[in-house]
Amino acid sequence: MKITVVQNYAELSAGAAEYIAAVVADRPNATLGLATGNSPLGCYKLLCEYCARGDISFAHVTTLNLDEYVGLTADNADSYAYFMRKNLFDNIDIDPRNTHIPNGVAPSLQQECARYARLVGALPRAVQLLGIGVNGHIGFNEPGTPLNSVTHAVQLSYDTICANAAHFGGSATRVPTRAITMGIGEIMSAERILLIASGSAKAQAVKDAVRGDISPLCPASVLQTHADCTFIVDEQAASLL
Ligand code: F6R
Repeated sequence: MKITVVQNYAELSAGAAEYIAAVVADRPNATLGLATGNSPLGCYKLLCEYCARGDISFAHVTTLNLDEYVGLTADNADSYAYFMRKNLFDNIDIDPRNTHIPNGVAPSLQQECARYARLVGALPRAVQLLGIGVNGHIGFNEPGTPLNSVTHAVQLSYDTICANAAHFGGSATRVPTRAITMGIGEIMSAERILLIASGSAKAQAVKDAVRGDISPLCPASVLQTHADCTFIVDEQAASLL
């Protein structure tokens, strides 16, 4: 595990964008595992700028997102599908047919999870980008999830619902309570992993992930066993290391 501590969110975003740009420059047809949320926003903004300048092309890139809320259609402004289009896909030269995200309104969640798991198996990721939850979750694999899990539907924890309420007008009751997530075993199957974390609210989770026991109680702790895992964290998120 390589830990890079940077001063602030701007430096974290630049580090992550440069990391991903280097992967794409080296392998223009790479599959990238992507995340949503506040952590990757700055990184995505920079990738859009690199692409607009012609420094990088996503024309042959494929993407696989980690997760989606159950019950939100892809055109719902709170869905992760919408987030990805607005913050990345609509502003780069990627073919939308090569972007994949679980379908949160599939008639059968079980079949949708099986379909997505097949896709994850068929598309080896050159890198998986991750944020980390305040409770140590990766994707929406909440504490207690088996470390070898595959794509599945989950009940979001109270911590996660509260942490995500800001995106729903500050109202925890508006946050969907279920999601589909790539499993921990599948996250671990990516060739490289890049986790980014910013702010003091993430400090305990980062400490548990980096220094704690490898345990389902902190899903991110499993990353200690990955052969090529990098954390880029700002000073506040690193404050308990
Ligand atoms: C999002 C995801 C989550 C987030 C985590 C941190 O696709 O899988 O694990 O990465 O909840 O969220 P932010 O970045 O908003 O603090």
